[in-house]
Amino acid sequence: MDKRAFLKGLGLAGLGLPLTGHTMEKMITALEDITNKDVMTDESFWEKIRKDYLLTPDYINLENGYYNIMPQPTLEKFIAHVKQVNLEGAYYMRTVQYENKKAMAAKLADLTGCTVDDLIMTRNTTESLDMIIGGYPWQPGDEAVMAEQDYGAMLEMFKQVSKRNGVVNKIISVPNIPTSDEEIVNLYASAITHKTKLLMVCHMINITGQILPVKKICDMAHSKGVEVLVDGAHAIAHFQYSIPELGCDYYGASLHKWLSVPLGVGILYVKKDKISKIWPLLAEGDRKEDDISRLNHTGTHPVHTEITVADAIDYYHKLGPERKESRLRYLQQYWTGKVREIPNVVVNTPADPARACGIANVGIAHMKPALLAETLLKKYKIYTVAIDYANVHGCRITPNVYTSTAELDVLVRALKELA
Ligand SMILES: Cc1ncc(COP(=O)(O)O)c(C=O)c1O
Repeated sequence: MDKRAFLKGLGLAGLGLPLTGHTMEKMITALEDITNKDVMTDESFWEKIRKDYLLTPDYINLENGYYNIMPQPTLEKFIAHVKQVNLEGAYYMRTVQYENKKAMAAKLADLTGCTVDDLIMTRNTTESLDMIIGGYPWQPGDEAVMAEQDYGAMLEMFKQVSKRNGVVNKIISVPNIPTSDEEIVNLYASAITHKTKLLMVCHMINITGQILPVKKICDMAHSKGVEVLVDGAHAIAHFQYSIPELGCDYYGASLHKWLSVPLGVGILYVKKDKISKIWPLLAEGDRKEDDISRLNHTGTHPVHTEITVADAIDYYHKLGPERKESRLRYLQQYWTGKVREIPNVVVNTPADPARACGIANVGIAHMKPALLAETLLKKYKIYTVAIDYANVHGCRITPNVYTSTAELDVLVRALKELA
């Protein structure tokens, strides 16, 4: 059987993917003409989207920041991919595996403004960023800049290169409610010396949802000869932007967060002229030094997970990136707007719409975040996560596209009562 016939037999023609029937088209088509602004507050639209999700009745899930569960249409496609790959086994792996992986990377490159020459699929943000931190050509005494609000796994990796390579880590603290972009840019600038080689910055701080002025930070760092690594774990398919336009050198993100891909897919962007300087996590043979596939050796891994990327992107596009972003921002502002001024309620996320989107963090004065999370779950059946470090004391509240304002009203009532 030739490859084309094989693909056809599997229903994998075109992109090389199987097809399953679902109702996604029907759900969105009727609403395509409505403007994003109208849709943002149109509960009946979002009620239809909610029907796409199988949700547990046990609690209101306001912890979508860990990962975004898949809507049923994507989940059905994923299950179909698992079955297809299992049907053909090694034949799939030896014929179209790599072709499909490239097709997925091309779709992701399209989504993020990159090209297949500067973007690869990884397992997650941790792998992407730690590959850069660990594979950077450090010299003893080199310095790196980061923030205490950065994600733990990356801070740990910097500690490791400090021990292993003699790198000196300079750690700043980002204010929860900054007064201007310049305040943040200056904070990062103040930690740079002539020995600084790399600066890591979150696109969105995961514990507060604050969006940082990444482009301005990149411009400042580059003017001082410092490269920038961006942690975009929470940014992709949450709000809209193009990675190259940020001007960073390296960018990592997870797709199981806001793109709702099955668990275990991420991306790594490396500016073309920086590829050759990074040591891969797992060695790959016989590649040009500036070929990004040098950094993409994985060994055998769950290929059905990565081919679901195309389905998740289709769902995202049909939902509408702008519609999604405006809804998520609206939901966050809906509840924070109702509690921000209440005595004893402390919102740890900026009110400025440009500085946040769907995620926010809230604390109650004199109440430990762990107790707040426990009370929200036990008394109000709201699931969140407690954050109690790096000057952030509260629960992270992360709605998703299926979250209703009625559910957020339960949160608002809870916070009022507890305050
Ligand atoms: C800011 C940030 N960076 C990195 C990560 C790690 O993501 P993953 O576990 O998908 O590698 C997370 C996960 O929540 C995160 O919030």
